[in-house]
Amino acid sequence: MSENQIDFSERQTKVDVDPIFVERWSPRAFQQHVIDEATLTRIMEAARWSPSCFNAQPWRLYTSTKATFDEYLNLLVEGNQAWAKDTSVIGFMVAERHFEHNGKPNAYAEFDCGAAWMALTLQARKEGLYTHGMGGILKPEVADYLKIDPAQHEVVMGFTIGKLADLSNLSDEKRSQEVPNSRKSLDDIWFR
Ligand SMILES: Cc1cc2nc3c(=O)[nH]c(=O)nc-3n(C[C@H](O)[C@H](O)[C@H](O)COP(=O)(O)O)c2cc1C
Repeated sequence: MSENQIDFSERQTKVDVDPIFVERWSPRAFQQHVIDEATLTRIMEAARWSPSCFNAQPWRLYTSTKATFDEYLNLLVEGNQAWAKDTSVIGFMVAERHFEHNGKPNAYAEFDCGAAWMALTLQARKEGLYTHGMGGILKPEVADYLKIDPAQHEVVMGFTIGKLADLSNLSDEKRSQEVPNSRKSLDDIWFR
């Protein structure tokens, strides 16, 4: 157990790594919290410095405001809406499909968005916040809502940013779902 009674027992590392990697996880129990402008800007700034193929920086980040939160929420599948309603910010990551310098398709645009997502996520953790990525979003509706041209831009994923709920206030059933999961062993993913 650690901060806020989080059960990290499933997260045994083979060797020591910086705790930020292991202690990042995707909760579904959030509490009402307003993320101030400076904090949100730092989180987006972290994404900005991600590496990308040809330094194309194909990521575009759209985030809800107080006024648009419910509209963003309605662009998630129902299962995600159920918990995302308690988060502070809902966002969508959009990729530019083509390189600006030559107009050719950028096969790495989604990959680069993944790097930006991780940077954003780790900065959120440094701010004492948590993110949760979502494939369960209504992509065509998101594109319509954001007024983006699907031929030029791809809706990659959705995400939330928020403050973890006090786990001790949750029902036993809900608390049992808020346990950081495990990973494949290093031997399963690293070959030489
Ligand atoms: C691209 C992406 C899409 C995801 N889609 C969903 C989703 O729609 N709903 C959900 O509850 N979790 C979603 N997740 C969260 C993953 O299930 C979670 O990251 C994974 O189980 C690893 O757990 P951890 O993030 O707590 O370490 C998504 C994560 C990513 C990166």
